[in-house]
Amino acid sequence: MTTTRTFHVWRGDGDGDLATYEVQAQEGEVVLDVLHRLQATQAPDLAVRWNCKAGKCGSCSVEINGRPTLSCMTRMSTFGPEEEITVTPMRTFPVIRDLVCDVSYNYQKAREIPSFTPDPEKQPGDFRMAQADVQRPQEFRKCIECFLCQDVCHVIRDHEENKPAFSGPRYLMRVAELEMHPEDTADRRTIAQDEFGMGYCNITKCCTEVCPENIAITDNALIPLKERIADRRYDPVVWLGEKIGLR
Ligand code: SF4
Ligand code: F3S
Ligand code: FES
Repeated sequence: MTTTRTFHVWRGDGDGDLATYEVQAQEGEVVLDVLHRLQATQAPDLAVRWNCKAGKCGSCSVEINGRPTLSCMTRMSTFGPEEEITVTPMRTFPVIRDLVCDVSYNYQKAREIPSFTPDPEKQPGDFRMAQADVQRPQEFRKCIECFLCQDVCHVIRDHEENKPAFSGPRYLMRVAELEMHPEDTADRRTIAQDEFGMGYCNITKCCTEVCPENIAITDNALIPLKERIADRRYDPVVWLGEKIGLR
């Protein structure tokens, strides 16, 4: 069955505006299908980023009726028959054009994290890990880098000034992954707090809510990392060691 749907789509750069279109939609389609039809029939210059159309490349992130989501995984059937659909670019990042943002903030934050630091005395093949220590990073590694968690987090969503000091949930999750890795020798607790802004996170869990991979970002990464930071900060032995210059 074909229906005609009202779409409000962001056009232009950061100073752009919503443009309204009446577009055909067919049964079983997702929002990205309708955006493609709009591109093919009425707005050939519409900039929209996508790649896999299977929820796996993380390219098609937008906000649909204000909610950060993947346009290729949002079924048209989730909207009421008369509901108008508004598609805007991710609000946290600068708009390049239409629905395409400059997400380089995320790549910059990824580069700042010191890489896996194994014990230099250990040879390849000497590592031994418990199954639980393998499963934890496997969950985090499901990340498709869609940046929806980064987009929704209130710490930077409306606070450009916090961006230099805050890495966002996706990259704090990476710090947590390495901090909890039994073969990583670097102490990441101090830098998590001082350089990556762990203290800004007040556990609102919005990041977890929008993650298309259903990664328990807050419960399995951010809260354990906070606990480790607190253990170090309030450990009386560490406190005394720091006072007398031993740690
Ligand atoms: Fe996207 Fe989830 Fe990865 Fe965040 S953690 S970038 S929401 S897949
Ligand atoms: Fe932001 Fe997630 Fe913390 S949304 S405040 S990083 S729990
Ligand atoms: Fe790849 Fe949507 S097009 S996740």
